[in-house]
Amino acid sequence: KIFSQVIKPFIHLCNRFSSCKGGEEGFKVAIAGASGGIGQPLSMLMKMNPFVKELSLFDLQHTPGVAADLSHIETLCKVGPDQIYKALKDANVIIVPAGVPRKPGMTRDDLFNVNANIVKELAEAAAEVAPKALIAIITNPVNSVVPIVCEVMKKADKFDPKRIFGVTTLDIVRSNTFVAEALKINPKEVNVPVIGGHAGNTIIPLLSRSTPRVSFSDEQIIAMTKRIQNAGTEVVEAKAGAGSATLSMAYAAARFANSLMRGLRGEQNVIECSYVASDCGGASYFATPLVLGKDGVKENLGLGELNDFEKKEVEAAIPVLIENIQAGVDFVNNFK
Ligand code: NAD
Ligand code: LMR
Repeated sequence: KIFSQVIKPFIHLCNRFSSCKGGEEGFKVAIAGASGGIGQPLSMLMKMNPFVKELSLFDLQHTPGVAADLSHIETLCKVGPDQIYKALKDANVIIVPAGVPRKPGMTRDDLFNVNANIVKELAEAAAEVAPKALIAIITNPVNSVVPIVCEVMKKADKFDPKRIFGVTTLDIVRSNTFVAEALKINPKEVNVPVIGGHAGNTIIPLLSRSTPRVSFSDEQIIAMTKRIQNAGTEVVEAKAGAGSATLSMAYAAARFANSLMRGLRGEQNVIECSYVASDCGGASYFATPLVLGKDGVKENLGLGELNDFEKKEVEAAIPVLIENIQAGVDFVNNFK
């Protein structure tokens, strides 16, 4: 099931876009949190990605075993367990799923105290040894953790807003899946942009801009929006204490990392939604569709046209985002 639902579509995705022979031509990708529920399948998908020439795995535990296991996969990509500075050094792309996940009854904000420290330390190391890397943050609460990384980079005088991303791809993946289910079509044919942030009502699917176009009733749009906003909790509850989304997240992060590398390779019109430092959305960080290029964000496509329902969703999200962002900024600036 994992092969047909995750690996096969991913190989298809890589083949569709790749003219890269892999091995010597590719990029160094580092994963921090590589032994975790997301880290392991994500590391496998990266080992199979023809754009990746070197995969460096960092975690507090089990990386030698994960790396040894992956190293037997018959692809050219070199894989190794490394201590943090060696793992991150000169990486082109750093993906961060390090940190604790939710249990039923928790919000993503409840993870702040533990995960803020973890990501701050990783960002400090990245600022030192990989200031040009594209950094993709999966760790929750994404809305606050991305500002933490940016503040750390600012303190180190290494801040480049084009290079730091909060990974919201799972929201797009879910939206595509749920809309395709409702339309009874293949999810690969669906694209729903999702803007805002990555928690509760800050997740704003733009169903009015779905391709193909959908003609849902107002009630259906409200129900679909709520399902997308609540999808993380749906998985947390189904896992009943054993964590949050891991396999779908690994798929989503692999899709996002693949797009970052397509941009780095100079491919044109690579577009993904992501949560970045921005002046587009009424809060200083906002997820919008981005054109990706050789230096990360090439162009922020902004909010685009919204209908009245979506405008109200944005209005409601802004104060929440402002509070989440401030928590991240204060954490770094008041750190003792
Ligand atoms: P997990 O507990 O299975 O794995 C986390 C890993 O991080 C563990 O292997 C742990 O050893 C490692 N780790 C902890 N501190 C570290 C440090 N200082 N340096 C390096 N590694 C460290 O958790 P998971 O299910 O993989 O989830 C990881 C994070 O991703 C959680 O915060 C979760 O909320 C988040 N998440 C985000 C999204 C999203 O859409 N952005 C989706 C799912 C999960
Ligand atoms: C998700 O959307 O699945 C993640 O943010 C994990 C969570 O805690 O919901």
